[in-house]
Amino acid sequence: MKKHIKNNVFWVGKVDWELRKFHGDELSTHKGSSYNSYLIREEKTVLIDTVWLPFAKEFVDNLATEIDLNEIDYIIANHGEVDHSGALCELMKHIPDTPIYCTSNAVKSLKGQYHCDWNFKTVKTGDKLDIGSGKELIFVEMAMLHWPDSMATYMTGDNILFSNDAFGQHLATEALYNDRVDQGDLFNESVKYFANILNPFNPMLRRKLDEIIALNLPIEIIATSHGVIWRDNPMQIVEKYVQWAHDYQENQITVIYDTMWNGTKLLAEKIAEGIGQADRDVVVKVYNLAKSDANDLITEVFKSKTVVIGSPTMANNVLHSVAGFMHLMKQLKFKGKKAAAFGCYGWSGESVKLINESMANAGFEVISEGYRNPWNPDADAQEAAVDFGRTVAAM
Ligand code: FEO
Repeated sequence: MKKHIKNNVFWVGKVDWELRKFHGDELSTHKGSSYNSYLIREEKTVLIDTVWLPFAKEFVDNLATEIDLNEIDYIIANHGEVDHSGALCELMKHIPDTPIYCTSNAVKSLKGQYHCDWNFKTVKTGDKLDIGSGKELIFVEMAMLHWPDSMATYMTGDNILFSNDAFGQHLATEALYNDRVDQGDLFNESVKYFANILNPFNPMLRRKLDEIIALNLPIEIIATSHGVIWRDNPMQIVEKYVQWAHDYQENQITVIYDTMWNGTKLLAEKIAEGIGQADRDVVVKVYNLAKSDANDLITEVFKSKTVVIGSPTMANNVLHSVAGFMHLMKQLKFKGKKAAAFGCYGWSGESVKLINESMANAGFEVISEGYRNPWNPDADAQEAAVDFGRTVAAM
């Protein structure tokens, strides 16, 4: 059901408490999500974005209990991805001629997905739409935040930025506002969203954030399309994005490994011990990749200054879990981070060299030749792993 936001602006989205995977199975969403759609009822009635496809009928049925669908003058499609455009086909069955305002790239993405030729009105940064009562919608292209078709819509008068994916998080809540949810959950999910979705686009993001700040628009509310609406100090999340977009790192070293018969696991623990001995201030975290959520680990990589990756050698190679995770790190284009490698082996022992190559290829600065150990680590090998940890901490 609709929820009042401010004056004549309402939330009409869907809270998805059950969601545990997003983008197919690519992204874990432990705390659900929401698809925030907004209804503006000034002299003109405007719908901003819709919801994910499985909720299309529910969304349109609910909307029809709130208003006569024919009263919708304008639809704004800030982004064509199916979690926001998924109810358009259902909606347009009822109001096929209603204009849809979006970027030219969104026309391509919407036509490409739904094969429909709706009444598109393409807009660019700075274009305005009069909605009556002295208020306007101003469009701001947000290309690569996170699709080429993304844009935000700013509502004058009420000073609301409808930011779509930007500044959102996958967090299901009835509470709706940033000041009414658990702050730990909110920032954990916000940084996870940034690390796993936005990080590859940091150079474009930095330019766009500068552009948004330079517009000097009074922003009282940032109404995202996932998770909470930022009404309490909304610029706090913009400031976080500025930090995160500048090759963010904390004083953290993360050891990530997979293991077959626990030899590489033992090395991981000893390396962590050495890091802790050498630097009492650094945060050291250790994760078995096969027993952890890859997207949570990416968030830890995002926060790290150095990652230490371990794999035993298996058939002249690394374990496939480690190979897949290194692929994911490469895809997310981390910058300014260091890496080191370790692993046990029985016969040929290529894993450390291969990890070094992959991490360099993923954009990390490889800071050592790594540490490899034949068979199970004995007392000397364990002490050597502690030493290796001390070396990593010092670099
Ligand atoms: Fe929430 Fe890019 O869709």
